[in-house]
Amino acid sequence: MLFSPLTIGGVEIKNRFVASACEDNLATEDALLTDAIVRKYHRLAKGQVGLIISSHLSVHPWGRTRKYQLGIWSDSMIPGQRKIVESVHKESGKIVFQLGHAGLSASRDVIGRSPMGPSTDESPMGDDSIAEVINAFGKAAERAVEAGADGIQLHAAHGYLINEFLSPFFNHRDDAWGGSEENRFRLLREIMAAVKKALPERMALLVKLNAHDFTKQEGITPGLAVNYAKRLAELEIDGLEVSCGTSSLSPWKMCRGDIPVQEIMKHVPESRKLKVQQLLEKMRENCTLEEGYNVEAASMMRPVMGRIPLFAVGGWRNLPAMEQAIVEGGTDLIPLCRPLIREPSLVRRFGEGKTKSASCTSCNRCLIAVGSNLPVRCYYRGLPA
Ligand SMILES: Cc1cc2nc3c(=O)[nH]c(=O)nc-3n(C[C@H](O)[C@H](O)[C@H](O)COP(=O)(O)O)c2cc1C
Repeated sequence: MLFSPLTIGGVEIKNRFVASACEDNLATEDALLTDAIVRKYHRLAKGQVGLIISSHLSVHPWGRTRKYQLGIWSDSMIPGQRKIVESVHKESGKIVFQLGHAGLSASRDVIGRSPMGPSTDESPMGDDSIAEVINAFGKAAERAVEAGADGIQLHAAHGYLINEFLSPFFNHRDDAWGGSEENRFRLLREIMAAVKKALPERMALLVKLNAHDFTKQEGITPGLAVNYAKRLAELEIDGLEVSCGTSSLSPWKMCRGDIPVQEIMKHVPESRKLKVQQLLEKMRENCTLEEGYNVEAASMMRPVMGRIPLFAVGGWRNLPAMEQAIVEGGTDLIPLCRPLIREPSLVRRFGEGKTKSASCTSCNRCLIAVGSNLPVRCYYRGLPA
């Protein structure tokens, strides 16, 4: 089953493996392409990954997560995006661009202003800036078309802007953009409408959605996520990737496994060290990696999704478990992020019958690297001092 093809939207994928979106800190400070980025995608395509989802591409200069994130907010970025697509198509791979706006998680230093969100004291978004963001997604989709991508994925997960509007934890508005489920969904609905206008029939429209925000007070929880999935199915998306956690408030739920406490402690001021260490040690117990840890939530969404491909990201490491999940209908595809950072040719290896589990230990040093502006690769042996 893992090596059987599947069609998503009009896009035929040769096997069930997906390279889940992975920021790499490999762009220039101007958010432009580098050769290292092209090499990354070429390696994945050569490694026989059926569908590659690009790193989170910022649709707006105020939506940047960090300094070396790749952008898609200007036409001058199209030639770079095209090079990525060509490097994947050369190896008969398929690539979808992940479009996003970091909202409150945007880097203040990088964007040079306070980050925007649905309900911040400093910078709650007005109708004009909401319209600007919707327009920016539409324009970014046009650029993805120009660049020859096979589709786009809207990043509505991990506590970024779209997630913030969807989540009652972040969104306290009482206007047309908040206050009810319908209103909190409105931003995503309008963005969908804007990008659909740009996308030709041949391209797939995917969404990455949180099934659980794991915020202090209730945000998106699986029950609400099912309702959102139903709305997305009614809008005829071509595929839904199910994730959880937020990059700033609950990263260890998003990327389960170990918490690299020692590395984190290096950045904590002396006065707070003891408290932070105790907190991290406690969190560690609740973040252990389970194979396919979003499958249960995805299964709740299955009945409302009909025949639309549904895929649960997170924790896939062993081939028999992946095969079983596909056979049982827990997930239609196997998205992999950290395992492919360590072994970009993992899928090819599996295909050759070398079925030893992925060698990624989920140590999560790659995640610390993202936040530290280091190029993303496997830092299992330790981050630079
Ligand atoms: C280094 C790193 C970068 C990531 N970048 C993105 C990203 O750009 N967009 C996104 O939706 N998720 C991103 N994620 C989350 C992954 O796509 C995935 O949801 C998560 O790592 C769990 O899957 P895994 O167990 O296969 O690693 C990132 C994760 C890591 C570790």
